[in-house]
Amino acid sequence: DVVEWDPEETGKAGYDHFMQKEINEQPRSLRQGLSERVDELAGEVDIGDLAYLNPRGVQLVACGTSYHAALYGAALFREAGVPAQAFLAHEYASAPPPVGDDLVIGVTQSGETADTLSALRAARSKGATTLAVTNVVGSTAARECDHVFYIKAGPEIGVAATKTFASQLTALNLLATGMVPTKDDRESIAALRDLPADVQEVLDDSSAEAVAEEYLDSDAYFFLGRGLQYPVALEGALKMKEITYKHAEGFAAGELKHGPLALVTANTPVFALVTGDGEQARKTIGNVKEVEARDAPVVAVTDGQSDVERYADHVLTVPESSPRTAAVLSNVQLQLAAYHTAAKLGRSIDKPRNLAKSVTVE
Ligand code: G6P
Repeated sequence: DVVEWDPEETGKAGYDHFMQKEINEQPRSLRQGLSERVDELAGEVDIGDLAYLNPRGVQLVACGTSYHAALYGAALFREAGVPAQAFLAHEYASAPPPVGDDLVIGVTQSGETADTLSALRAARSKGATTLAVTNVVGSTAARECDHVFYIKAGPEIGVAATKTFASQLTALNLLATGMVPTKDDRESIAALRDLPADVQEVLDDSSAEAVAEEYLDSDAYFFLGRGLQYPVALEGALKMKEITYKHAEGFAAGELKHGPLALVTANTPVFALVTGDGEQARKTIGNVKEVEARDAPVVAVTDGQSDVERYADHVLTVPESSPRTAAVLSNVQLQLAAYHTAAKLGRSIDKPRNLAKSVTVE
């Protein structure tokens, strides 16, 4: 007798889809990326020689999900006092040219995205130092850049990036902390230590499937975030549109009343990312009230520190963490919401129509 088996199926380890497996793998992939890079006792991270790069300014170039990670990375460098900006790699031609002490970081899971490679080549030709933040050992970006920092997420098969995004955020967190230490590092380093377990808690307790079920017939899905949660809002919307084929948009919460509010109806659920209890949370709650007044269902992704629950129809809970890691945790809830919505709609989750895992033409 011949036993037939499909290696692709076997590789799913009992999950229905690679995407589902990869979402669930995040505690492990994050642990891998953090291992030997965090010294909690000393309150330091260890990024090797990269700690001595001492950039005058930082530019980040990337596409797709990696661009959202780049936006987050740029915000971290700016917080630490280093001028930094993220560019879509295919728009990099309009960026101010980098100079000698500038660092240009290419964020690319595959290390093969043509647009990102050409932006990195252009930066290098202008004399900038280049750094690849990538998942694939020996990829073109890893070979061509002056430096490389591996995110160590392990292979990702699903076209829609999930665990690699979490690992990119974490890698950029390590890099910013390692290159430009600040007095606030201790808290965020402690949060990094807890991150894998906190992600596991989200995976174990999430009610995202019930949210997906309730809003399956929606006209569109909107995502609001502010500060470090803004890139997460963009990523939540990208995941939703990639695998469900439904209209989804992410907005900077403060931009809502400058246009997007016109789209908001009782049939457009709004996912609001509200962690912490500071100024940003308070302002985003103001935006939540605006959509609530237009009868839109509100799904709050929150750590319970603010009173956003009062204005929400559903709550997706994340553990209390630091602002940097709260972004990773909130994103897991959005991954699950997109995944369950697509699964219930019967979509081709691992290979969405018209999309490729790696885009090697400009
Ligand atoms: C494609 C993929 C996306 C990915 C983007 C950038 O569009 O479908 O998931 O985010 O390329 O890929 P990279 O390998 O450079 O991160």
